[in-house]
Amino acid sequence: MSADHPTLNHTLRVALAERSYDIEIGSGNLANFSSFLRQRCQTEHAILITDTTVDPLYADQLGDQLVESGWEVHLLVVDAGEQSKSTEVASHLWETMLAEGVDRQTVVVAVGGGVVGDLAGFVAATYARGLPFVQIPTTLLAQVDSSVGGKVGINLPGAKNMVGAFWQPQGVLIDVAVLETLPVQEYRAGLAEVVKYGVILDADFFDTLEQQVDAIEAKNPQVLTTIVEHCCRLKAEVVEQDERETTGLRAVLNYGHTFAHALEAAGSYGQLLHGEAVAMGMCCAARLAARMGRVGEPFVKKQADLLQALHLKTTLPDHSPDELLRLMYHDKKVEQGQLRFILPDCMGHVEQVGEVRPNDILAALRDSR
Ligand code: NAD
Ligand code: GLY
Repeated sequence: MSADHPTLNHTLRVALAERSYDIEIGSGNLANFSSFLRQRCQTEHAILITDTTVDPLYADQLGDQLVESGWEVHLLVVDAGEQSKSTEVASHLWETMLAEGVDRQTVVVAVGGGVVGDLAGFVAATYARGLPFVQIPTTLLAQVDSSVGGKVGINLPGAKNMVGAFWQPQGVLIDVAVLETLPVQEYRAGLAEVVKYGVILDADFFDTLEQQVDAIEAKNPQVLTTIVEHCCRLKAEVVEQDERETTGLRAVLNYGHTFAHALEAAGSYGQLLHGEAVAMGMCCAARLAARMGRVGEPFVKKQADLLQALHLKTTLPDHSPDELLRLMYHDKKVEQGQLRFILPDCMGHVEQVGEVRPNDILAALRDSR
């Protein structure tokens, strides 16, 4: 965990008035963890929450780094996997924190992927009515999406992310070097969210990704640092304008997600990684937009070509379109029985669209098989 490429470090500000914070992005910069934390927290007591995979890889060493700098540290390890985003695990963490004497002078640090970030953030938001919180995201998905913007939460049986809060961190420390140990399937799933930013917000970025496929595949640190920073900047700009998803602007980040959630549910959440489902969902959304005359076939192909170049599947598993449509109507984003889709009208721009005919949705699903 040495600072291999210290010159690559970039700092990005998320401007949210008194909840503003920095995202520091680099390669090898976990070596700066204790000074990063000290600059942002008026305390020397930290709870590090991680999972069983990330603990031996990174969290244990980060804990040692803090101890060497004079901090009191407790390391809490949950099982790796989505099942840890549960009321039982949250409750176990609250009880352990009580036993360890955690109070409002303690900072909670999430070291892991989106599961750990969402869970630790939720525990930080709720324990003692809110503790300071820092994110160290270690998956690509967490670095470009879940660690930024303050959505934290846990699942109820059968209802993903149903209990949660908006709880902004004091800071986010991103080291792209940790992606070296990430399984390739997880890395590729995170790339779906990267492509999503290009489609929804930035056509030039989409073009850049097309040109950098080989460097992305090789996990080139310079290229990855720039890509992760750009995604964080795009997300930060959306969050700054619609922190609590009340104006509809933040909803653009859900491009492809209505289809993706149905695909994940149809596979009982065990068949596809979230990002894999998002890649397929983006293809369905593009096909729906084409059917509604919002984009042409070249758009659908351009998006699918990049996803395929990044080794993401663009055709659906063998679920019945009627079943997928039924699952879509059970999504928590359905309001008053109305399905809403985020649909493109050109590369780099999307809109929220209601009143989509079920027959068009079914046709888009059939065309995507
Ligand atoms: P994850 O946290 O389960 O991590 C995937 C796997 O990779 C886990 O087994 C983990 O232990 C392992 N891992 C993590 N970092 C590693 C590394 N550097 N090297 C080796 N292994 C590593 O999954 P995820 O895809 O990061 O996150 C998914 C979660 O994020 C979902 O629960 C989803 O709801 C949530 N999410 C939240 C938001 C938000 O805005 N809060 C946005 C998107 C997704
Ligand atoms: N991942 C969607 C959001 O943060 O709003």
